[in-house]
Amino acid sequence: MKRVAILISGSGSNMAALADSMTGDHPARPVLVLSNRPGVAGLERAAARGIEADVVDHRPFAGDRVAFEAALTARLAQARPDIIALAGFMRILTPGFIARWQGRMLNIHPSLLPKYPGLDTHARAIAAGDTQAGCSVHEVTADLDAGPVLGQARVPVREGDTAESLAARVLEMEHLLYPAVLRRFAAGDRTPVMLG
Ligand code: GRF
Repeated sequence: MKRVAILISGSGSNMAALADSMTGDHPARPVLVLSNRPGVAGLERAAARGIEADVVDHRPFAGDRVAFEAALTARLAQARPDIIALAGFMRILTPGFIARWQGRMLNIHPSLLPKYPGLDTHARAIAAGDTQAGCSVHEVTADLDAGPVLGQARVPVREGDTAESLAARVLEMEHLLYPAVLRRFAAGDRTPVMLG
């Protein structure tokens, strides 16, 4: 049984979708939810599911990423995860941290990568006049939002869409895509999952 640590920064809806999927014959179980921000809704969602939840606040480290990641690594070590799932975790990790978890760390990004790495993905898709948008689950590498894609889900961009209305439509697919990819990944299967 693979042990999964889920890193969050906010509401944790993807964390909840992952956690709720890891039951029965699923090859993995959540062992820790870790937030870099205290008091966020995702921590309550984890506690409500009986999952160990904790905070490593990045602010006291005043931008010293290596020191922050040393604290993150120490807390992770207590949970002994085999896999890290970034789920709305909004800190950019250093190449050193990523190298330690190479091939064992996933992230969900709200665009059809390689389109729109970074922020404001939905506004950029609308501004570009795209007819389709979506989300991607990828392995985390030192190149931001550029690791091997293990799954994608597509949604239509509708007339009159705002970044908010499109984000809501994409988020629904995120909650289907990420659990599907994690189930395969935890079983050692990197065959991409394609939805929509
Ligand atoms: C999601 O849209 C995810 O793709 C992005 O941040 C959002 C987090 O949502 N990285 P939640 O915290 O999982 O609800």
